[in-house]
Amino acid sequence: MLSRSALRAVSNTRAFSSSASRQTKVAVLGAGGGIGQPLSLLLKLNPQVTSLSLYDIRGAPGVAADVSHVDTNSEVHGYPADQLDQALEGVKVVVIPAGVPRKPGMTRDDLFNTNASIVRDLASAVGRVAPDAHILVISNPVNSTVPIVAATLEKAGVFDPKRVFGVTTLDVVRASRFVGGIAEADPAEVAVPVVGGHSGPTIVPLLSQTPQGKGITGEVYDKLVHRIQFGGDEVVKAKDGAGSATLSMAYAGAKFTGALLRALNGEKGVTVPTFVKSPLYADQGIDFFSSLVELGPNGVEKIHPVGELSAEEQKLLDACLPELKKNIEKGKAFVA
Ligand code: NAI
Repeated sequence: MLSRSALRAVSNTRAFSSSASRQTKVAVLGAGGGIGQPLSLLLKLNPQVTSLSLYDIRGAPGVAADVSHVDTNSEVHGYPADQLDQALEGVKVVVIPAGVPRKPGMTRDDLFNTNASIVRDLASAVGRVAPDAHILVISNPVNSTVPIVAATLEKAGVFDPKRVFGVTTLDVVRASRFVGGIAEADPAEVAVPVVGGHSGPTIVPLLSQTPQGKGITGEVYDKLVHRIQFGGDEVVKAKDGAGSATLSMAYAGAKFTGALLRALNGEKGVTVPTFVKSPLYADQGIDFFSSLVELGPNGVEKIHPVGELSAEEQKLLDACLPELKKNIEKGKAFVA
């Protein structure tokens, strides 16, 4: 049994080590939206977040007041449209779900005209006020908005490829859930590497690399791949004009942010798919790609190649690359 003073020493050590590893201010840009609100709530529940900075051109102070009453330790502040710079002061991680979502019949690329400038302007502010922050891009089309963020930061002379991420986690979450349903397995135990990009045919699930997925063949396989690639359309259709995935996306966004924070705080072996500046297909002019990425204290630690592919997966990848290339070039051209 520990003496009272020994107990105090232990608890002081804990308090010290947890506060030392938990000085993490996270900003959500677009916090008033369908994704932004539940994402802010989920981040409020994450003990690794010590301060939450919520910004939107509409409604962020209200969301912040609401979320701030949740009984966890973190501070929450809301910032109105004219206080973007204040919202970004001292932030370590910036999550961006700002921009318009799809309506039925739209592709993610149809959002380009509206969202490209929103993302460029937000990235430019991050580059100016918090140049060392990690930027997590949710706004669509991710295949183009991530190159837009990178090119904007590059122009400002502050781009670090280790710190810019496209959030493709929802594709991974859907893949786990759908494979779990077919294989009668707990989705939490099903890890599917989803590579490529984040839109229809650029989403390439590698089921052959998943124990619960590799036995799935024929029509069931084809339907499963289609559902993973176009799962977002199911939600857009069911919402019937009221937007796209928000709750599952908030979950996915919080999951990816949590993984990054664990890695930034020293946890080893945090490896997840994410869309980053990548050497894997750069020789084909495709310099952003999602594959399994090991995260570390500085962000991207190691980019894994896609590994061994089945013949079907090779076909999916062959269909992904030219489309992805177009999307990336469109993003770059916008900033140039
Ligand atoms: P929403 O319309 O409900 O919310 C967007 C929010 O962004 C609004 O509150 C709006 O006021 C705000 N906003 C607009 N311009 C802004 C600016 N310049 N600065 C700050 N905030 C600004 O849309 P929702 O459903 O939250 O979707 C947001 C984005 O996320 C869309 O582009 C959507 O396509 C994308 N998305 C991405 C997914 C992914 O897997 N990466 C999945 C689902 C959606």
